[in-house]
Amino acid sequence: MRSSKYFIETYGCEMNKSDSVDIALSLEADGYTAAARNEDADVVVLNTCSVREHAEERIHGRLGYYRSLSARRNGSISVVLAGCMAQEQGVRIIERFPEVKAVVGTYHGWSIPEALRRYAETGLPVVLVDQEHYEFSPFKGQRARGHSAFVNIIMGCSNFCTYCIVPYLRGPEKSKPAAQVIDEVRELADRGVVEITLLGQNVNVYGEDCGGPGFVELLERIHDVEGIRWIRFLTSHPRDFDEGIVRRIAGMEKVCRHLHLPLQSGSDRVLRLMRRQYDMRHYRTVVDAVRMNMDDASITTDIIVGFPTETEEDFQQTLAVVREVGYDDAFTYRYSARPFTEALRISDPVEPDTACRRLEELIEVQRSISLRRSREQIGKTRRALVERTSKKNSREMLCKTERNRMVVVRTTAPVGSFIEVSLKGLSGSTLRGCELRP
Ligand code: SAH
Ligand code: SF4
Ligand code: F3S
Repeated sequence: MRSSKYFIETYGCEMNKSDSVDIALSLEADGYTAAARNEDADVVVLNTCSVREHAEERIHGRLGYYRSLSARRNGSISVVLAGCMAQEQGVRIIERFPEVKAVVGTYHGWSIPEALRRYAETGLPVVLVDQEHYEFSPFKGQRARGHSAFVNIIMGCSNFCTYCIVPYLRGPEKSKPAAQVIDEVRELADRGVVEITLLGQNVNVYGEDCGGPGFVELLERIHDVEGIRWIRFLTSHPRDFDEGIVRRIAGMEKVCRHLHLPLQSGSDRVLRLMRRQYDMRHYRTVVDAVRMNMDDASITTDIIVGFPTETEEDFQQTLAVVREVGYDDAFTYRYSARPFTEALRISDPVEPDTACRRLEELIEVQRSISLRRSREQIGKTRRALVERTSKKNSREMLCKTERNRMVVVRTTAPVGSFIEVSLKGLSGSTLRGCELRP
């Protein structure tokens, strides 16, 4: 008998991408094999995001698509809704989309095979959305997919920024025990992984919920693992950074010179309403510490415009910070009202047209700063990790610098190896470089 085939579509943040690796492994452990195309699959898992309304609209679109695909295939596709939107919608989604056979929330991702078994036995849709007990994924080294890997170190978030739905969907902070993290990193290194990215909604508070070692101690232990050459982490909360921490991190040579420091707004008044728990004075001390201690570090950020009550003056303050810090890149969003969140209760929303105009202006300002930051790289020599063959020219490789910039290089070095690159110029927004032979 042929084995059942699965296909996973992933939306949302790096955390979801990482969860999808575990979901795939749990299905494979149960005898499923990967389908090359969604049309060939018996089970389609949508690993979803709810962070903005737009993200949910996309999933509704995909569910509509699978409704018609399932009808064409006489109902032979089982759709599983997993991740954050599954957590948010629960049973309601089945009322609208009966082709969804299982709704598996954020605490149950690795139980999808069991949910599918229950569905096969009873013919009734299965809904697993309770948040009583979180089990970390049982997979460690098997998670290796090439030379880079994500490692979840802390799940959930206890910050409750007033705009954000994540704490309601992912529950409170839960740190993965340090011994398990280290085992996982060792096993990944044994399988050839050279770059790891530690993941969490706020990695800086690692260990605080369970009294274990803190984030910097964990980094130090990971730093000692042989074979791991580059360490990255996502996301840091500016509140939990200070000069001392920046210095300690800067002292670890495997930690890449790239920090993601979500600003959200440059206005103290708006930051207070967002409950970000830092002000611009503190944020600036963190940026200054990075500039002082991490040679030519790349700093990226997230910004929301159009938060309720945001005035033109607030927005101008955000633009001023963007110019002052000179971010290498920024992920920019228009505020989206989300269920459960406290910001829903703030009256005085920003007109959609105004918010759109501010977003466009912000994108434009950041675009020219990103370009300037790229130009500043020209003439420098950087170590780069060979990622993949360029689609445009099979003799060129796309490589990633420690500062998280893509650079096109003509090289015969294999994927997953490190090369020294002299950065020569830009084509569009992509850097071009020449390999320096040892
Ligand atoms: N834990 C991370 C980010 C989580 S969500 C942090 O604290 O920085 C990723 C980004 O989505 C956030 O940084 C924020 O910029 C954006 N975001 C979250 N909720 C949003 C909302 N309701 N509307 C618009 N953007 C939002
Ligand atoms: Fe959301 Fe704030 Fe938690 Fe980030 S820190 S996930 S923005 S509540
Ligand atoms: Fe989206 Fe959930 Fe990540 S809401 S941003 S997938 S934590």
